[in-house]
Amino acid sequence: MELNQIQQRDCIEGLVEIPAGSIDLVFADPPFNIGYTYDVYEDKRAADDYLNWTRRWGAGVVRALKPDGTFWLAIGDDFAAELKIIFQRELGLCCRSWVVWYYTFGVQCKFKFARSHTHLLHFVKDPQHFTFNIPAIRVPSARTLVYGDSRANPDGRLPDDTWILRPQDIPDKFQPQEDVWYFPRVCGTFKERAGWHGCQMPEQLLGRVIKASSNEGEIVLDPFGGSGSTLVTAKKLGRKFLGFELSPEYARRIQSRLDETRIGEPLLGSDLPATSAPSTANGKIRINNKRLSAKAAAAQGSLLQPSESIQLPTLNPLDLLHQFCTAAGKKL
Ligand SMILES: C[S@@+](CC[C@H](N)C(=O)[O-])C[C@H]1O[C@@H](n2cnc3c(N)ncnc32)[C@H](O)[C@@H]1O
Repeated sequence: MELNQIQQRDCIEGLVEIPAGSIDLVFADPPFNIGYTYDVYEDKRAADDYLNWTRRWGAGVVRALKPDGTFWLAIGDDFAAELKIIFQRELGLCCRSWVVWYYTFGVQCKFKFARSHTHLLHFVKDPQHFTFNIPAIRVPSARTLVYGDSRANPDGRLPDDTWILRPQDIPDKFQPQEDVWYFPRVCGTFKERAGWHGCQMPEQLLGRVIKASSNEGEIVLDPFGGSGSTLVTAKKLGRKFLGFELSPEYARRIQSRLDETRIGEPLLGSDLPATSAPSTANGKIRINNKRLSAKAAAAQGSLLQPSESIQLPTLNPLDLLHQFCTAAGKKL
């Protein structure tokens, strides 16, 4: 099996050719069956067809994993529960953590709440023997970041199982050692954005997964290459890698990304999203086509005119409400 490459092919066919029990870590971010637009793949199967398809590639993943191997699955709300049952009950993996990756800048919807999270299910083949590198993924604790507490462990703590994007807005919640994780989605304006695949995952998130669940020189497999972020991150972190991608165009572009990536290069994005994102206290709002600081806008009585167009991309709605009411001399 030739490693360190992306293969343009159906992952079900590719997985069959991998020697059984040879892969250390699989990270899979399959299409969520929500009608998302990819260039080749049709993301709208009948539910049973989608579940049976999952069983087929899932069996290939389990066969390819080493006895002490790890599988991470990224999946949306619609099928998270059913896929957990497939991998746990039918395919025999053991679920260690159900991590929630919480992100801001989710796509707005018309008649439902915008998606702001993805599930990351952490499975292992053998719950007694698997890689879990705690020192490699420690993060600063709230004692360090918020309270300046001298008892803080200088080495930080294990992330929580909620990974989130803007913890600076809620410093006492979503602590990094819990199971909702905070990382920004890779938005259009971000330097990291490759720009040709709508589902690009952040390198920092994949970095945490890869550092926790594999060691340098081990093999990371991604059956659904997408923009290639898993493979790029694995290469940067000195892992061997192998990817499959159905789309010839995406596969070609993944290869270009890989060619430009060097082993040991730093991951893009901040590894401390809790402290790197700008505080909403310094946010800007637009009134009558002028950008004003939040403080200046709150001081203006004109904020209360209903005809005005106000866009607040970074402000927390409660802060906004509070500013409106303060400017109007009302209490919340
Ligand atoms: C959600 S995206 C993956 C995004 C990726 N994690 C990233 O960070 O860019 C899913 C990808 O799977 C690909 N795909 C769909 N069916 C496939 C199959 N049978 N074999 C290989 N790739 C497939 C799609 O073309 C799409 O690019």
